Amino acid sequence: MEDVTDTVFRALVASRFAPDVFMSEFINAREYFHKKRKFARQRAHIDGAETYRPLVVQIWGNDPEAYRKVIPILLETGFDGIDINMGCPAEKVVRRGECSGLIDRPSLAKELILAAREAAGAKPVSVKTRIGVKAVKVEEWAGMLLELDLPVLTIHGRIAIQMSEGEADWGAVRRVRELRDQMGKGTLIVGNGDLFAGEDLDRRYAETGVDGLMVGRGIFRDLDIFRRDRPHQSFETADWSQRRTVMVRHIEEHRRVWGGVKGFDMLKSFFKVYTRGPEEYLPLREKLFQSRTYEEALALIAAFR
Ligand SMILES: Cc1cc2nc3c(=O)[nH]c(=O)nc-3n(C[C@H](O)[C@H](O)[C@H](O)COP(=O)(O)O)c2cc1C
Repeated sequence: MEDVTDTVFRALVASRFAPDVFMSEFINAREYFHKKRKFARQRAHIDGAETYRPLVVQIWGNDPEAYRKVIPILLETGFDGIDINMGCPAEKVVRRGECSGLIDRPSLAKELILAAREAAGAKPVSVKTRIGVKAVKVEEWAGMLLELDLPVLTIHGRIAIQMSEGEADWGAVRRVRELRDQMGKGTLIVGNGDLFAGEDLDRRYAETGVDGLMVGRGIFRDLDIFRRDRPHQSFETADWSQRRTVMVRHIEEHRRVWGGVKGFDMLKSFFKVYTRGPEEYLPLREKLFQSRTYEEALALIAAFR
């Protein structure tokens, strides 16, 4: 997730309860080579302290040539596989036939997958997508993708124009899994959408028979959402010492890896995660929101309690 699953946050999540697979922020294949725009290259950075694997890099764009060029470089960087984003709903990219826009351009989608596969060699190439652009067309679209024998297909149960609104349609996710079974394909189906708590993961897994689940915004509700033991204990139950450890680690690692490169303010959405739950943490949350430097935030945490 953009501005969320960077190398620092991934390592931090892995230090508590890791998912089976991590995925990078999405990286624009063409932008990677742009001399001045550095976002794509920053997003592809894997810090030496991040050791948990497998780690998949997600790319996007509508240019097969750019895929052919960027994929070998990304794999060389240390990623274990490539995922193609066919799900981002931003209007501008959809109009250009990128991301969700590929749902209505199946031949270009296929060309991109084949180009990626050629460039990735033995490494896997998967796809993450939605169930339509303006209307649900799940069988037609997923059917075409399944024909390509992808190792993994992630389905976010919304159409593009929904953005993140309304509820994810897990019936549609289930239909993709059923279609996979009918077609006799080996593609692993991963469901995505509104998995906000450990219980949501259990329920959707049981209801749909998917092979895996992808958590998006749920990581902001519960840092420990990937915890496997049941009954699920969310991060809200973490004591002060655990919270302090997580916050100090995130701030220090962000400063070490990104200091002077990415802004401090990026950390603020995470402070909200780390102070969730008991009201006693609210004053600290408010102060952290107003802080402006790594040092100031660390001093606030040291002074709390
Ligand atoms: C801040 C933010 C950044 C995101 N960045 C990406 C991304 O880079 N690649 C991607 O496939 N989806 C991205 N998404 C979408 C999520 O992966 C997910 O598909 C969507 O939020 C629905 O799942 P959820 O309800 O579990 O959040 C992003 C979502 C958010 C909120």
